[in-house]
Amino acid sequence: MNKVYLNGRFVPAEQACVPITDRGLLFGDSVYEVIPAYGGQPFRLEQHLARLRRSLAAIRMEDPLDDTRWRAIIGELCTNAEADDLSIYIQITRGTYRTRVHRIPSTIESTVIAFASPITARDPRIAEQGIIAITLADIRWARCDIKATTLLPNVLAQAEALESGVDDAIFLRDGQALEGTASNLFIVLDGLLITPPNSEHLLPGITRDLVLELAHDTGIAYAEAAITENELRRAEEIWLTSSTREIAPVVQLDDQAVGDGRPGPCWHHMDSLFQTAKEHIRLAARPTSR
Ligand SMILES: Cc1ncc(COP(=O)(O)O)c(C=O)c1O
Repeated sequence: MNKVYLNGRFVPAEQACVPITDRGLLFGDSVYEVIPAYGGQPFRLEQHLARLRRSLAAIRMEDPLDDTRWRAIIGELCTNAEADDLSIYIQITRGTYRTRVHRIPSTIESTVIAFASPITARDPRIAEQGIIAITLADIRWARCDIKATTLLPNVLAQAEALESGVDDAIFLRDGQALEGTASNLFIVLDGLLITPPNSEHLLPGITRDLVLELAHDTGIAYAEAAITENELRRAEEIWLTSSTREIAPVVQLDDQAVGDGRPGPCWHHMDSLFQTAKEHIRLAARPTSR
């Protein structure tokens, strides 16, 4: 890994250390963002920074940096990276205090971490064969709209999916399908593209918003509406979306084929719109790219 950003400085990754009394480590008292960059150009940066500020406000933290500084740090990570397609990870913890106390200390300075890792190109088999998912009870907390680093239920759900020999899991709560372990959920039902409305039970995904925007701009009928478990099981198509996974077609759910068991026509259409949007970013970056 190239140099990483830690509290105001770019340092070699192996020298980037956080004290054991950091509240991010002790309490998961921290939030994060993952921003994709294509051709060295951050994608939907404004939206990601807005969500970061929203997450910080939700856990009663001030943004330690202003917009210009965030953009400069992210720009530097992109410039110094060895790959063009990147995932920029940002984490802000409440900070390090002298001792472990639950109460939020009145004087504490946040810990800011940022680093870039290459995004591996999508496995072509995903477009050809899709992915397989199971449903699992949502055991997460009631503020899944905050991009908090307390991801143990998500980690355990992914482990359960992998142990079951499938790729991912979709969370069900009170009879409704909400989202994947690290992705938002879309279905196509009776020709209508549907995603659950933003609420405290799911993350307001940046890719989700882009898919809705592309649907709106190209006249694809869509709705933001609750998806019942029954509707999920009757769907012609199921997709999972995220910044690093893009739009993944689910072709099998809990041992049952989705549609004809292959990525569906609506997915093919939306995926090509999405790839074009990505390509625009790459083209915009070209004059200054290495
Ligand atoms: C729980 C959860 N939902 C949805 C998403 C998708 O969000 P985005 O499209 O902004 O990457 C993520 C991304 O990590 C996630 O962890």
